[in-house]
Amino acid sequence: MVGVAAMAKSVTNGAAGGGAAAPTTFPKILIANISSLKDNVPVTFNYPLQNEPSLLVKVGQTAEGGIGPNNDIVAFSNICQHLGCIYGFQAPGTSPPCNSSYVAKQPMGYCCCHGSQYDFLEGAKVIGGPAPRPVPMVKLELDSSGNIYAIGMDPPVIYGHGSPGSTDVTTDLQGGTLVTATSGGQA
Ligand code: FES
Repeated sequence: MVGVAAMAKSVTNGAAGGGAAAPTTFPKILIANISSLKDNVPVTFNYPLQNEPSLLVKVGQTAEGGIGPNNDIVAFSNICQHLGCIYGFQAPGTSPPCNSSYVAKQPMGYCCCHGSQYDFLEGAKVIGGPAPRPVPMVKLELDSSGNIYAIGMDPPVIYGHGSPGSTDVTTDLQGGTLVTATSGGQA
């Protein structure tokens, strides 16, 4: 995996001077420049909280929700929706370290805890294992310089936030510290 230092462009926590209100606005952080991406080599970053990994990957073919000239850049929470393990990314034709007899047919996530499988070409649709729902997609933005930013999360909520399967993504912002200029990436 390739790690990059993410830089925050803005962080709004919704606590207008009071400090007690729950945050309601997602931070916007720089993840990578499109020129640095290689097909099926993921970039890991923390989002939207400092202790919650996500991954960005250019899958090399049109993907549901993908951005970029070929609509092939996607990002998802890296936390499995079954019981919260960190799953791995599998390029087509590769096998997860825990299951050498399984060969990925498409860019996908494979969780070695109990075998959940997420299709990265179809919005992380569950294609195997016990996961009850897809891992949430990270909303991305691409600027004219090729910079790719994380700007929010799509439902369902990240594992461990709110009610399982809830669509109230503001709960993704609770329970930890939002990423900042120096905390968003993994070196
Ligand atoms: S935690 Fe991922 S399959 Fe169980």
